[in-house]
Amino acid sequence: MIGIMTAGGDCPGLNAVIRAVVRVAEQRGSGCVGIQNGWQGLMQNDTRPLTRDDVSGIGRLGGTILGTSRMDPYVHGDGYASIRTTMAQHEISSLIVIGGDGTLRTALALSEEGLKVVGVPKTIDNDIAATDVTFGFHTAVQVASDAIDRLTTTAESHNRVILVEVMGRTAGWLAAYAGIAGGADVVLVPEVAYDLEDVSALIRARHARGRRYSIVVVAEGVAPPPELAHQQLAKDAFGFDRLGGIAYGLAPLIEERTGFETRVTVLGHIQRGGTPTAFDRVLASRLGVAAAELALSGTTGVMTAVRGEAIVPVPLVDACAEIRRLDPEVYRVAETFFG
Ligand code: F6P
Repeated sequence: MIGIMTAGGDCPGLNAVIRAVVRVAEQRGSGCVGIQNGWQGLMQNDTRPLTRDDVSGIGRLGGTILGTSRMDPYVHGDGYASIRTTMAQHEISSLIVIGGDGTLRTALALSEEGLKVVGVPKTIDNDIAATDVTFGFHTAVQVASDAIDRLTTTAESHNRVILVEVMGRTAGWLAAYAGIAGGADVVLVPEVAYDLEDVSALIRARHARGRRYSIVVVAEGVAPPPELAHQQLAKDAFGFDRLGGIAYGLAPLIEERTGFETRVTVLGHIQRGGTPTAFDRVLASRLGVAAAELALSGTTGVMTAVRGEAIVPVPLVDACAEIRRLDPEVYRVAETFFG
């Protein structure tokens, strides 16, 4: 029996992975059990059988039919011991875990305790090491880029500066891609230090040349300027900072320095919700098929990854070694269009 779960923040494409795993398992004569609400379901024996009928038509749906949570067996229980009973009761020989870096680290620790596990990387942040890209990212970039298009016309009507804050945690992938696609005039990312005087000078020069708007894409994880450095952030269950809202602090500082009315739009969870793009549906399906095949072959301690055009297994330990930061080359492209 294969167990499958989604944990951590949701992400467009999760259901396409679930559908792919169930289809492969059935074709190979194996059953599939869905674990509800992430690790919480394994700890509390909250499961449901998954058949081909259960997953019919879900590939196009956002969210996850299994539910998710940020509960963790090492934080809220005692590791493998807290999930062993559920695993045994449902005769789960291998667990497919679809998650981001926190979830994959937990999966790695459990595999070191003897659990047979295959990881599938997911996050709109695109920040998981050992894979070229994660599903969900493409959809989030599309959402953010569409939002920038809309914000540009209203900003231009009012001769305003608009700060568009995007998610991405400590990585600037989403900000840089959305900025390039949407034609942002400045993009602030966690990986690159910025100076508000320079940003403001660039905006002033732009408007002096006759432009009637400026769009500044702000990654939620940018370092606060000295004026805002005192603010304390709450933590989530994995111990990550709960980000969001830095643009509200930056806006008055930019307005003061430029003299242009400055407004803020924080895109928030709209970037994660809703239907996945076709690209993400295909990627998620490919990763799901590969994960099911690996699980059925008894492989453990690996994650399905994208390398060039191929889907390959990589050691979970490599995926968990670091956060994959924005490629400076991508930022250089974004910078080309500043001002
Ligand atoms: O990791 C995905 C992500 O959407 C981040 O970009 C964001 O900082 C975080 O999750 C938000 O988490 P939550 O849904 O718990 O508010």
